[in-house]
Amino acid sequence: MTTITLPGLIDVHTHLRVPGGEHKEDFASGTAAALAGGMTMILAMPNTSPPLTTTAVLEATLVQAEANIRCDVGLFAGASPQDIAYLPDLAQHAAALKIYLNDTFGRLRVEDVPTMVACFKTWPRHKLIAIYAEKQSVAVSIGLAAVYNRPVHIVHVSRREEIELIADAKAQGLPVTCEVTPHHLFMDQTDAARLGPLGDMRPILGTPDDVAALWEHINTTIDCIATDHAPHTLAEKHSDSPPPGVSGLETSLPLMITAVQNGRLTLPRLIELMHTNPRRIFHLPEQPDTQVEVEMTPTIIRNENLYTKCGWTPFDGREVAGQVSRVVLRGEIVFENGRVLAQPGNGRLIRQS
Ligand code: DOR
Ligand code: ZN
Repeated sequence: MTTITLPGLIDVHTHLRVPGGEHKEDFASGTAAALAGGMTMILAMPNTSPPLTTTAVLEATLVQAEANIRCDVGLFAGASPQDIAYLPDLAQHAAALKIYLNDTFGRLRVEDVPTMVACFKTWPRHKLIAIYAEKQSVAVSIGLAAVYNRPVHIVHVSRREEIELIADAKAQGLPVTCEVTPHHLFMDQTDAARLGPLGDMRPILGTPDDVAALWEHINTTIDCIATDHAPHTLAEKHSDSPPPGVSGLETSLPLMITAVQNGRLTLPRLIELMHTNPRRIFHLPEQPDTQVEVEMTPTIIRNENLYTKCGWTPFDGREVAGQVSRVVLRGEIVFENGRVLAQPGNGRLIRQS
């Protein structure tokens, strides 16, 4: 049997639900899921309850994270019109800034130009601004990157028109990067119809042509694969108002390694998309003596094997080409043969200022 060795993978888009959504995920459970999925470093999103838009909430969350994380974690600060005065303070502790231009789970939203401009003028230039942008908001994001001449990272791109616009922006030399999720690469509208609420997320799944466009750009325009791990309980998903989002930390590498086996991308390219580029784009620290071993053996993804607290994935029942067999973080075995060995508190906070 073949074993493939990879560097510790980095997910720049995880929802860990602290504070306010600990019944869906918390730092200990989310980072266990990360390690089980081959991720040794993750960046957590700020659309919590309350959101990470004030110094008090960010600092309290960092204290909780430090005591409970099993892998390395950085926190995004969130941009919000009412809390814009906190940005300089938030920048001291956050790994990056997230701006939500379009509707998704939670209340965080920026819809006015003055708030966008304040973010671009105030947030330190050496820290990244990541933007949730769909359709014409992608054009807005590229415009802001051009006007203020600073890097912008567009999260979970899902449509042909968006990836082609980003490709054109890059061809002009504009400082734009982007990420794509495995669920937008491996599922389309047909799956959304089949899965009902379990196939609902933002952005919603695309057409087969959108999926084809993403694969056309896998070796060029796409900079990172990011999970958008967005856990919600099954009870919430089957309720009258199901929240959007699916888990992803434990399925992303198995799906992408399957794509490697099927010849859709090379192993070196997978390493660029899931380690090298995320680290470079977000200026993340190196993790010495850190590696992930993947056993190349046909495996069925099963809900019951997951570590995420929500306990389900839209890929339940899907066959993949390999599974994570061992993860070593700073010289210590933190995951082996299906068991998470790292204790809460084992991970480090990423707090570059
Ligand atoms: O489907 C989604 N769920 N997309 C997002 O951007 C946010 C997320 C969540 O927080 O649940
Ligand atoms: Zn997200």
